[in-house]
Parts: sequence; C-alpha cells; structure tokens
Amino acid sequence: MSQSSPTALVTGAASGIGRAIALLAAERGYTVIAVDKNTAGLKSLEPLLKNHRQDAFCREVDVTQAAQLEQLAVEIFEHFGQLNLLFNNAGMVVNQPVLEQSAQTWQTVVNVNLMGVVNGLLAFVPRIMEQGSHAHIVNTGSVASFISGPGLGSYTATKMAVRGITETLQQELAAHGADIGVSILCPGPVDTPILADSGLVADNLQNGPIEDAGKTEDPDLMEAISPRRCAEIVFRGIDAGDFAIFTHPSYKPICQALINATLGLE
Ligand SMILES: NC(=O)c1ccc[n+]([C@@H]2O[C@H](COP(=O)([O-])OP(=O)(O)OC[C@H]3O[C@@H](n4cnc5c(N)ncnc54)[C@H](O)[C@@H]3O)[C@@H](O)[C@H]2O)c1
Repeated sequence: MSQSSPTALVTGAASGIGRAIALLAAERGYTVIAVDKNTAGLKSLEPLLKNHRQDAFCREVDVTQAAQLEQLAVEIFEHFGQLNLLFNNAGMVVNQPVLEQSAQTWQTVVNVNLMGVVNGLLAFVPRIMEQGSHAHIVNTGSVASFISGPGLGSYTATKMAVRGITETLQQELAAHGADIGVSILCPGPVDTPILADSGLVADNLQNGPIEDAGKTEDPDLMEAISPRRCAEIVFRGIDAGDFAIFTHPSYKPICQALINATLGLE
C-alpha cells in the first residue's frame, strides 16, 4: 500500500494555475493526482505528468460532488497510503452586478468556489491527520479574499469565505498539534482562461477599491504573470511555511488600507 514518494492532489488541474501546480509538483518528484471536470484538459495533461512519474494519474471529478471526492480519497489512501500536498484550487468567476446574478448563479458559484474547497477538506484532511507524515494544504483564494470590486459579488463572497475557512482550519490543526501546514493562495492577475473570460482585475478591481486606495499607478498590480510563475511562487510559499501566499505583494498594502477603511481606522 504505502510508497516512498510523496503525493499531491490538485483540483482544477486541467487548466491555468492548477495545471501549472500539477506539473511543477511532478517535476519536484511528487506523484500527482490531477482532477478536474474538464476531460479534454486532463487528457492533454496526463502524458506531461507521466513524463515525470509514471504513477501520476488524472481523474474526472466535479468538486461540487462530495461523494466523488470521498471516493477518490478512499482510492488514494488505499493505493498510496498518504497525501502530502492538497491543492483545493478549482474555481470560477461570474462577472455581473450583485442584483443581476440569479439565485441559481449565486448557488453555482458558491457550490464551486466554496463547497468545492469544503468538500476537498472533508474528504482528505481527516485521513491526512492519521497518516503520520507531513502534509500541506493550499486553498486557492484570491486578492478578492481581502478586497471587493464591482461585478465580483459572488466571487468575492466565496473567496472571502475561503479565507475564513483556511484561517480557522490552520488554528484548529495547530491546536490539535497536527503536522500539517496550511496556506491560502491569493493570486493577483494570472494569465489563464478565467482572467480572459471575466476581465476580472482590469475591469473590476482597478475601477473599484484599488482606485479608491490611490494605488492605480502601480503597474505591478495589473501585470498578469504566467501560471508557471504562479506555481513557482506557490511552492516557494509552501517551502517557507507562509500562510498567505501573494503572487503580487503590491496588493498587501491595498488590502490593509481597505480593511482599515472598513473598520474606520486610519
Ligand atoms: N487567473 C487569475 O488571475 C486568478 C486570480 C485570483 C484567483 N484565481 C483562482 O485560481 C483558481 C484557478 O483558476 P485559473 O485562473 O487557473 O482558471 P482556469 O479557468 O484556467 O482553471 C480553473 C479550473 O477549474 C476547473 N473547475 C471549475 N469548476 C470545477 C468543478 N466543479 N469541478 C472540478 N473542476 C472545476 C475548470 O474546469 C478549470 O480547469 C481559481 O480558484 C480562481 O478563482 C485566479
């Protein structure tokens, strides 16, 4: 059952950030389990992963379906006996004013961005806690885990919730003495289909709170980095044991300023 190489599970691995994380994990010697609902994307990823490790595999999984993740967890622990990196990364954006998003749209975004993370945690973390080897969990949030912007109501709601869950989980695992690191990945713009499809940062954050915070002159804020660069930053953050992993550190003072403004602090 148990094997010597460490294992990594990535959700939303067919595209963008998840795909780059999966490939970098494989390069770093992890046996990668790549999951997504996008079968075509997984099909093109699998041979690339197997270039690094033959025991890598891809699986069609919808993260909104708790039973599918639970079944995968059973198989992974039966086969490998451990999971050392868990990336709850799958996500989606709907770029629409709060009052124009239907209840059904809200539910869909909540199901993917919030319950997808919860389902991943419920399926894997209890088993990780019993495996007796080190692990690290990375939940993908966003700079929208800290700041809001027009058109991003459902996205921001779910990404702020992911931050809340991740902070709480870290506190609870630490209190339990578990050998498990916890991080939230807070990307700024990364050049992936989600960004192109939504116009996320350029159209929304820039014209909202960032502008109000007087920081629009900072070109670094809007510069989209490659998924590969994002993945490198993620692993650097894991290696350093960072809780909040920002791809664009220039967002940090803006997050701070906006939180202060909300609280009425200088
Ligand atoms: N790209 C950015 O600028 C940016 C910025 C901040 C946060 N993020 C976050 O990064 C994460 C990855 O996004 P990306 O930029 O790589 O976009 P992407 O669209 O390239 O990748 C998202 C992946 O998630 C998968 N997915 C969506 N719903 C799913 C479901 N129900 N079950 C399984 N898989 C599902 C998609 O099929 C896709 O492969 C998301 O959580 C996103 O919110 C991205």
